[in-house]
Amino acid sequence: MKKAGVLGCGLMGSGIAEVCAKAGYETVVREVEEAFLKKGMARLEGSLSRAVEKGKLAAAEKEAIAGRLHGTTALEDLRDCDIVVEAIVENLDAKKETYAALDRICKPETIFCSNTSSLTITEMSAATSRPDRFAGLHFFNPVPVMKLVEVVRTIATSAETEKTVLEFARSLGKEPIRAQDNSGFVVNRLLVPYLLDAVRALEEGVGSREDIDKGMELGCGHPMGPLKLLDFVGLDTTYYIAEIMFNEYREKRFAPPPLLKRMVLAGRLGKKSGRGFYEYGEGK
Ligand code: 3HC
Repeated sequence: MKKAGVLGCGLMGSGIAEVCAKAGYETVVREVEEAFLKKGMARLEGSLSRAVEKGKLAAAEKEAIAGRLHGTTALEDLRDCDIVVEAIVENLDAKKETYAALDRICKPETIFCSNTSSLTITEMSAATSRPDRFAGLHFFNPVPVMKLVEVVRTIATSAETEKTVLEFARSLGKEPIRAQDNSGFVVNRLLVPYLLDAVRALEEGVGSREDIDKGMELGCGHPMGPLKLLDFVGLDTTYYIAEIMFNEYREKRFAPPPLLKRMVLAGRLGKKSGRGFYEYGEGK
């Protein structure tokens, strides 16, 4: 594998493109609109610059990484990629449409991977002529920092594809775990009910936001308490994932609590909107 494609240059896509280019892959990252591409590439550039400032990356190495990164709005530019990792909006129809188009553009050997956190990989792969060369590759936020990736196989993924994707993940400096194509895979299946329970605990007045978070930080050694983590991941994202998981399993533990829904409706989406369970002012 020499050339990687990344679809989407949002929070996850820009991080994925960064780790691909850092690992030595020629990396083409595609966004639908020039403005989104510019924003995503600026985030990526900022992340590399911070690494240089902290002495974690040599300036010359940063230049080499930047030289391997190519931003585009044309899907055709992913034509000769050996692997494509998709991290576009979590909308099944949008993903299926993109994959069907990409399937016509890429060479038959290209492996397609989705970074979806909860949608069905099997359904996306059915929109292509290569379900055997289709897998999930689920990264965690912040992508450059978090060591884990989930490599997800469907009933149609070939053993060879799974092996290649596991090797690709390791080549990015990540530690892969294997999971089946069940909504939420391993991590979100455990994490999402925990986050939703923290909102229920707040709703029921079990503790203040600070005490709930401190409880899990100091009592269980989590780097962030659940309400801080919800703000970090995005309340809308978590709400959306929980809805998908609830629809799949029909179990109460995946049902988003009313407070979470109301906060999303009120536009309190977490860090990205300046307010979630906490307030994020200038410089905070
Ligand atoms: N990009 C690159 N590097 C980053 C970064 C970013 N966005 N954010 C933090 N870092 C680096 C810092 O540079 C620092 O590196 P250094 O130690 O070498 O100097 C290191 O990470 C630690 O950062 P900070 O000292 O600024 O802050 P913290 O020690 O509080 O760490 C954190 C920040 C890594 C985000 C930590 O709080 C953490 O691990 N939080 C939990 C994150 C988590 O659980 N993520 C998974 C979310 S679930 C998910 O993504 C799945 C999805 O499907 C929902």
